[in-house]
Order: sequence, then C-alpha cells, then structure tokens
Amino acid sequence: MAWAIHGLLLRFVLFAGTAQGLQLQIKRNNLPVSNSPLSARAGGLPLDNSADISYYAQIALGGQNFKVLIDTGSSDLWIAGKVVESNSTGLNASVKYAANSVTGPIKQARLDFAGHQIPDQAFLEIPSESKRTEGDGILGLGPSSGSFIAQRLSSGIGAPVLERIFLQNRSAPNFFTILLGRDKDPTDFFSGRVTVGEVLEDYPDIVKQPQLPIVKVPESESDDQHLQILLDSDGITGPDGKSIPITSSVDQTANKSQATVVLDCGFTLPQLPRFHGSEFRQVPGIGGAWVLPCEQEVNITFKFGGKMYPIHPLDMSMYFQPFTYDRGESPNYDMVLGMAFMRNVYSLFDYGDFIENSSKVSSPYVQLFSITDMAEAHSDFVTVRLGEVDTTASQGLKPTDAGTSSAKKLTYGIVVAVVVIAILVGVAIFILRARRR
Ligand SMILES: *[C@@H]1O[C@H](CO)[C@@H](O)[C@H](O)[C@H]1NC(C)=O
Ligand SMILES: *[C@@H]1O[C@H](CO)[C@@H](O)[C@H](O)[C@H]1NC(C)=O
Ligand SMILES: *[C@@H]1O[C@H](CO)[C@@H](O)[C@H](O)[C@H]1NC(C)=O
Ligand SMILES: *[C@@H]1O[C@H](CO)[C@@H](O)[C@H](O)[C@H]1NC(C)=O
Ligand SMILES: *[C@@H]1O[C@H](CO)[C@@H](O)[C@H](O)[C@H]1NC(C)=O
Ligand SMILES: *[C@@H]1O[C@H](CO)[C@@H](O)[C@H](O)[C@H]1NC(C)=O
Repeated sequence: MAWAIHGLLLRFVLFAGTAQGLQLQIKRNNLPVSNSPLSARAGGLPLDNSADISYYAQIALGGQNFKVLIDTGSSDLWIAGKVVESNSTGLNASVKYAANSVTGPIKQARLDFAGHQIPDQAFLEIPSESKRTEGDGILGLGPSSGSFIAQRLSSGIGAPVLERIFLQNRSAPNFFTILLGRDKDPTDFFSGRVTVGEVLEDYPDIVKQPQLPIVKVPESESDDQHLQILLDSDGITGPDGKSIPITSSVDQTANKSQATVVLDCGFTLPQLPRFHGSEFRQVPGIGGAWVLPCEQEVNITFKFGGKMYPIHPLDMSMYFQPFTYDRGESPNYDMVLGMAFMRNVYSLFDYGDFIENSSKVSSPYVQLFSITDMAEAHSDFVTVRLGEVDTTASQGLKPTDAGTSSAKKLTYGIVVAVVVIAILVGVAIFILRARRR
C-alpha cells in the first residue's frame, strides 16, 4: 500500500537548542516551486511553497535580500545572519516559541516588504549558525500584543512590521491578505501570495464576505492574542454529511457550540489524524508518528458566518504526532486551523482602521473567500492519489453504506478522526509557538 509520505523526501531539522520540540521540514524532489506564471493572480508578493509545509516570502533588510517564513501565529521579525546596513539599539531580546526560542541583538534597518518600506524596522539578528536549512528567518504577521521586540523597545519603534506599515499612512487600509498554493494540485498552479493593503485582482469578492470579528482574549492575557474567530455552531461537517457536535472550552464563549479557532499559516508541523486505516510507525529521526493511507478520501467542510468552506481532500492527509501539548486550565482557543485549512480560502485579516481624528481603530475582523470546488477537488484527488481510478465509492463513507457493520465502523472511525483533527490537530503544533508564559 502506498503510505502517505508520497514522493517526498523527508528531512527533519532540529531547531537550535530545542529540548522537546522538533522542527520538521519536508523537502520535495526538485520540483519547480511554481510551475506557471502567476498573472492570473497578479498583485502582491509571491510566496515560495516548500512542500505545503512552509511558505516563504522575500524581503529586503538594509538592501539585502532574505527569505523569511510567513507566520500569522507570531509577531516578530528575526533574521539569521548579518544585516550589514543596520543600526544597533544596544538591547538584546529573545523571541520565545513554545518549545524553542531565538536570542540576539535588536537592530534596525530599512525594510522592503510587499511594496512597502519602513526606514527603521526593528528586528532580531541571530547568529547565522542558528539558520534553518531553508529560509533565513521568520516574519510574524500576528497582532502586536504578542511581540517580544515591542515589549523590549516600548517606544513604538519596536512595533512589528504590519503595525509600522499601518501607522505610517493612517488613511491607507489596515489589512493584509494571504493565498496559499497547494504543492501537488494537478489543476491549480500557484505557490501563493501575500498582500498588504490591497486585494488580489482575481478575488475582488473577498471584501464582500462576512466580516468575522477577531475574538479578543482577556486583557491580562493579551500576549496570547492570535488571529482567532468563532466557528459557526457545530460548524464542522464530517464525511457522512453530518455536523460534528462541538463543546467549546473557552470560558468567554457565550455559545458553547461555537469553537474558537486560530488561523495560523506558520503552523509548521502537520497534523495528527487517527483515521481508520492509519498506522502508528517509528519514523527515523522523529520517533512515533501516525501515518495515513493516502488513498483515503476525507471530505470535511467548515462553516463561518453562514458560509461553507470545503477542505480539499488532498489537504486532509498529514501525518505526524511528535509531541504532546497542554493548553492549560483556561484555554483561549479550541483549535488551530493551519495551512491545510488556509489553502482552501483566500483570507483577509483587517486589523481595524483608524477612526478619523481619534487614536482608536475599528474592530478587527477576518474575511474568508472559499476557493475549493468540491467536484474539482475530488477529481484532483482521484488523479493524484488513485491513479485516475475512482475507488472512493467503496471507501464506505456514503450514508447508504451505513447499514453494514464494517461500513458503520469505518464511518465512526472517520468521524472520530475528524473530531481528533478538529480538536488536536492544530493545537499540537501551534502550541509549539504559542506559549509565552
Ligand atoms: C547582549 O548580548 C551580548 C552577547 O551575549 C552581550 O555581550 C551583551 O552584553 C548583551 N547586551 C546587553 C545590553 O545585555
Ligand atoms: C542609522 O544611524 C545613522 C546615524 O545616526 C542614521 O543616519 C541612519 O538613518 C540610521 N539607519 C537606520 C536604518 O536606522
Ligand atoms: C496613503 O494612503 C492613501 C490611500 O491608500 C493614498 O492615497 C496616499 O497616497 C498614501 N499616502 C502616502 C504618503 O503614501
Ligand atoms: C447556539 O447557537 C445555536 C445555533 O445558532 C442555537 O441553536 C443554540 O440554541 C445556541 N445555544 C445557546 C446556549 O445559546
Ligand atoms: C477631523 O479634524 C479635521 C481638522 O481638525 C476636521 O476638519 C474634520 O471635520 C474632523 N473630522 C471629524 C470626523 O470629526
Ligand atoms: C467527497 O466529495 C466528492 C464531491 O462531493 C464526492 O464525489 C466523493 O465521493 C466524496 N468522497 C467520499 C469518500 O465520500
């Protein structure tokens, strides 16, 4: 049986100084990063898609080019290496992720990012020995309340990149958008885009989508604020077409059937499904991992603001469970929707616009535009995973099959898996970076 790690050459990289956490990278076999011109999705800054695991953007600091991981789950910029044209602030800082951290001097340099310039952007310069195999650092696009550099350099010049851009021109809109490509998609060839203050030409309707308010965490925990929104009531539809009951464990959620979800495109490690047919295996260099047979098609749909967001079955097969996690007594979110979800939407994050003659901004929100067509997604799946032979009808997921006990068991197995995905998946990886206290 063709087990999941299809066609990928696995490479595991330990984050410098990491005790419990493994930073996983998957390097694919010499395929071009993007194999067609992006004219149809013109605008914004192209992203490099590294095997659907990491998305990188090119920025310039002090005129030097760097390739940085785009991350909506953190808020600081750091570079491994020397930025020649930069000034020192005389301060050091650490940017802490849940299982690892980077430390170095806070410097300032001119930043060029997605068509915007900041004359003196603060960033952390860490020793180049700490450089990961791919990419030169991380660009955090998350809320500034989570920024370690801003805490250290509180005079305002320590603010993260997006806040600096937004403050620079208060009459320009305060949003950024992200489109993530799918590595093995046989019909859509694009690697991804990020924009600041503008919308991709191909998706003007993003601005007409429901505005999903960003859920604020309690003031005392503002450093744990992420780009998080409420899922509709029981807003996950499983492979059997039924919604999966959810009970939120977030205290401040009024309606417990609504989960609080964090949208996080920097979510580096993939997911932990215990699908029927999945197998626990020892993977060299990483230990135990769940592996899913890649022929299994899993259809899942999320619902936000009354709109359905189907997930491409090619995104539903990720494989690893390298560590445990703990969200603590009173979690601020129920789950994390990482890259696998974000490849199915064009997303807009609005940090709230400045209100005229006031220091206030309007409330931040997210807009999601579904870009996955289920019929096309199904045919993609049959092409990529099943060698053009559609055997999904015999995968026992149709309600009509539910009569036989083995089919029932399979359906049950899948539904359990979905719940596991929803609740654990995101969380496990996310927690790597999210814990700050
Ligand atoms: C910053 O770190 C460097 C290297 O560890 C150290 O030499 C220096 O004294 C530190 N500076 C401050 C202000 O703590
Ligand atoms: C660095 O310092 C010099 C001298 O004070 C100043 O002219 C320059 O603008 C500074 N550059 C940055 C990027 O802050
Ligand atoms: C500020 O943004 C507005 C609206 O996008 C634009 O018209 C104006 O030219 C910008 N101003 C500067 C100084 O860039
Ligand atoms: C939660 O929302 C659902 C759907 O809108 C509704 O049916 C249910 O009664 C609500 N529950 C509570 C406790 O308000
Ligand atoms: C904002 O201030 C300007 C200049 O003082 C004034 O002309 C304008 O009417 C004010 N706008 C609002 C909405 O109060
Ligand atoms: C998944 O959805 C597609 C499109 O609706 C459908 O053709 C396919 O049979 C479904 N797969 C399974 C395993 O139910």
